[in-house]
Amino acid sequence: MLNQLTDGYNRTHDYLRISLTDKCNLNCSYCMPDIPFYLPNHELLSDQEIVKFAELFVRDFGIQKIRLTGGEPLVRKNAAEIIESLSRLPVELAITTNGVLLDRFFSLFEKIGMKSLNISLDSLMPENFNTITKHDQFFKVFENINLGLAKGFHIKINTVIKQGMNDHEILDFIEWTRNSPVHVRFIEFMPFDGNHWHWESVVSFNQMLEKIENIYPIEKLEDSLQSTAKSFRVKNYAGTFAVISTVSEPFCQNCNRIRLTADGKMRNCLFSQNEIDLLTPFRDGKDIRPLIQNCVANKKAERGGLGGFDKKEAKATYDKGRCMTSIGG
Ligand code: 5AD
Ligand code: SF4
Repeated sequence: MLNQLTDGYNRTHDYLRISLTDKCNLNCSYCMPDIPFYLPNHELLSDQEIVKFAELFVRDFGIQKIRLTGGEPLVRKNAAEIIESLSRLPVELAITTNGVLLDRFFSLFEKIGMKSLNISLDSLMPENFNTITKHDQFFKVFENINLGLAKGFHIKINTVIKQGMNDHEILDFIEWTRNSPVHVRFIEFMPFDGNHWHWESVVSFNQMLEKIENIYPIEKLEDSLQSTAKSFRVKNYAGTFAVISTVSEPFCQNCNRIRLTADGKMRNCLFSQNEIDLLTPFRDGKDIRPLIQNCVANKKAERGGLGGFDKKEAKATYDKGRCMTSIGG
């Protein structure tokens, strides 16, 4: 190994998130801008480039874990081939998917030993799901989740909670964990370009917990140091739940993540205001390793240096970033 990716705050980065595509087969209101903008294909990393980049990060920088994101990673042409190639690297491979196409991939995931899946699901009510995602796919996704559970996959559900959108469903999600061994993770709504974020639409960790504690006897579970979630369980329930408090209580001190966008740009933070183009120099035959080291060295202490979400100017600043689909969660 050449070097570990350590930044100026002594944080070592061994977790790489790769966006396979900026396209998605759903259109979630809090994620997609009103008029989606898609990158042209020739600007995206090719299949071989994704694998080469991943190899370089693992071999030269000691990356231990790679998560595939999107858009929706499974809509990428040749997703299966790319995933299979990446599974040969000495790295933990994970994926975050909206679950629509999952049934076509279970056997591949079983074959390569990917046992844990993160699946986004923001509503347990078919009609509300359709309103949020603008697609009639609730039953497909729910069926795929149950299929995955039956096959023994460990399933984490990502649920972005937004005031007026699905905050009335929090207790339904908790009730789901009574008999289902799912791990539901409620995510505070974050601001991104074009997603109509404002303070009043955030339901905070404290507000969520209060709502749940009012009804259910809950116990705290242990979280790993780098975990972004605070985990709990309702006593004697089969499943568990957690809250990801990016907005009310960021967890930047222990951050070990870096990101590669679908068009080959490296970001040292979800909220970073700049990104480093790795693809152009790579296609020109240049050594991109110093660029990668520099990108990490320049990482800011917290939230890309933007400061608190509560600042008056916060909204305008976050709006200048990229939208979520092009960064990849
Ligand atoms: N705030 C919080 N989470 C978001 N995601 C997408 N947009 C937002 C947002 N504005 C999450 C989705 C999905 C993952 C890819 O990113 O829920 O699980
Ligand atoms: Fe697609 Fe996920 Fe964004 Fe929804 S949140 S539009 S499923 S990328």
